[in-house]
Amino acid sequence: MKALILSGGTGSRLRPLTYTGAKQLIPVANKPILFYAIEAIREAGITEIGMIVGDTGAEIERVVGDGQAFGVKITYIPQEAPLGLAHAVKIAESFIGADDFLMFLGDNLVRDGVRAFSEQFQTSKPNGMILLSRVPNPQRFGVAEIQGGQVTRLIEKPKVPPSDLALVGVYLFDRSIFRAVNEIAPSARGELEITDAIQHLIDHGYRVEAHIIDGWWKDTGKPEDMLEANRMMVENIMPSCDGTVDQHSQVIGRACIASGAVIENSVIRGPVVIGANAVIRNSYIGPFTSISEGVRIEGSELENSIILQDTVIEHIPTRIDSSLIGKNVHISKVIERPKALTFVLGDNSRAEVQ
Ligand code: DAU
Repeated sequence: MKALILSGGTGSRLRPLTYTGAKQLIPVANKPILFYAIEAIREAGITEIGMIVGDTGAEIERVVGDGQAFGVKITYIPQEAPLGLAHAVKIAESFIGADDFLMFLGDNLVRDGVRAFSEQFQTSKPNGMILLSRVPNPQRFGVAEIQGGQVTRLIEKPKVPPSDLALVGVYLFDRSIFRAVNEIAPSARGELEITDAIQHLIDHGYRVEAHIIDGWWKDTGKPEDMLEANRMMVENIMPSCDGTVDQHSQVIGRACIASGAVIENSVIRGPVVIGANAVIRNSYIGPFTSISEGVRIEGSELENSIILQDTVIEHIPTRIDSSLIGKNVHISKVIERPKALTFVLGDNSRAEVQ
């Protein structure tokens, strides 16, 4: 069995962060989302992975490499434009060959991994297998209609959902999917939809199994999803401290502090992850916060946030909460008059002040 990870797309709902980088490389608990997918695939015993990439392919290839570090072999498959999930399957046909394959959307996180599903697929040998999860907002997803335990209909982002069963971004297929992706037409939004390809399988008498998963799963499409994913993943960190914590600081609960990090006169209340060479001085870092490499926080308080590489936050008088802050950002307080807020924000940024 092979695997296909979809890491193309535009990441439009995560702008401005995705103007300068791939959304699949945004870290949760200081690890790029994409790494969790590769690890889950490896854990399921699959070592040959095709990686669909778009405009951000070079960056993904630089960070992920040939897969050796993960114990897998990665073949990059460039997609000319984000023409749909089924289009990605179409262009992967020669890589997949005659094998069965597991397809994993590179922006999805499945906490309990995919091993059980891949084993189930290999035992019961259907033509396709989909995973479903009950969600409060099915309009945002592909949605399945089930009758008598069988999937009868799949609809992509329906205005009026027929159920609350969303398609999780993990699918298993045998070769029959290639006929389907080659026969369907683009949807109204101009994409070759995987939901249409699976519907095509169902309509032509192929066997498609559905499994409702009850473990935690997240499509990290939006900033609030990222923060939720981060909360889930930092909760599971192994506490460790390779950095330096001075005697005026307190580390309460689970914290993972990487080498070269310096904590001075601060309170760290876990679960928290602090990256290499970060500096936390005269500050409070509260639960569910991930601070990347090289970040400097001085005289400030923050919690439930993700702060990316080399950002500096200094002397902010109000606690920063539920924030996703990109690389190399500088947030500081000035004392000069007039008393004013000054912003240099990228397109599609969001700032909320009180
Ligand atoms: O997360 C689950 C949902 O994923 C499913 O419920 C939907 O049925 C499915 O269509 C998909 O919806 P999204 O709107 O979340 O898909 P998105 O455009 O975000 O793409 C998912 C991943 O696939 C992401 O890592 C980008 C990548 N991608 C996307 C497209 C359209 C590609 O590599 N190529 C593409 O052409």
